[in-house]
Amino acid sequence: MAPSHEPVGQPVELRTARLLLRQWRDDDRDPFAAMNADPAVMEYFPAALDRATSDAMLDRLRAGLADRGWGLWAVEVLDGGELAGFVGLAPVGDDLPPAPGVEVGWRLAQEHWGRGYAAEAATRVLRYAFEDLALPEVVSFTTVRNARSRRVMEKIGLAHDPARDFDHPRTVGWSGQRHVLYAVARGAWLAPTGARTCSPG
Ligand SMILES: CC(C)(COP(=O)(O)OP(=O)(O)OC[C@H]1O[C@@H](n2cnc3c(N)ncnc32)[C@H](O)[C@@H]1OP(=O)(O)O)[C@@H](O)C(=O)NCCC(=O)NCCS
Repeated sequence: MAPSHEPVGQPVELRTARLLLRQWRDDDRDPFAAMNADPAVMEYFPAALDRATSDAMLDRLRAGLADRGWGLWAVEVLDGGELAGFVGLAPVGDDLPPAPGVEVGWRLAQEHWGRGYAAEAATRVLRYAFEDLALPEVVSFTTVRNARSRRVMEKIGLAHDPARDFDHPRTVGWSGQRHVLYAVARGAWLAPTGARTCSPG
């Protein structure tokens, strides 16, 4: 669909203590495809991605960032410059029960798990969503069994809202079709709790 406004061209970059969230580049294609082909990374998705599908996804993420200025950013480890994966924001698809809204999401290559990168980057992204974009709410959802991702949602301040759980309409017939919905409202997230310490950038 054509954008309803002029593309911004130069997307926002975000930084944390250890990470740079930036626009996608062509030299990201190889590590992005390796991540998307890894069965462990894709355990909670219906299928891993082949090279063409991965490349097409990178093109979509890049176009989304160029169009809006924000989106699902490439996450680069500042120390060494390696691509760790993506973290960022995406409008919820019109066909999904949580729509309309904006979701926060993530996918990291396995060698970068367990270092707190997802929560660190996503905390920075939420600050951008609420302080800069002034979104009223950010949601996140995943298949019920994805405990690692649900833990990230909790760590960054989202809460499970069982009344909004749903069967994902694009995964009919898959054992993971049931999805849990987590959400946080702007006012609640910005309230001074002293808990937003993992992202000084
Ligand atoms: C989900 C993902 C981004 C997490 O990345 P990460 O950088 O390792 O996340 P963090 O280190 O910030 O936090 C992970 C948390 O989950 C916890 N965790 C790890 N394995 C877990 C498990 N099996 N069950 C419950 N919690 C688990 C960790 O202990 C940590 O919590 P803690 O800091 O309280 O100890 C990464 O595992 C990933 O890319 N997974 C595949 C893609 C995916 O599922 N994306 C989400 C789709 S909605």
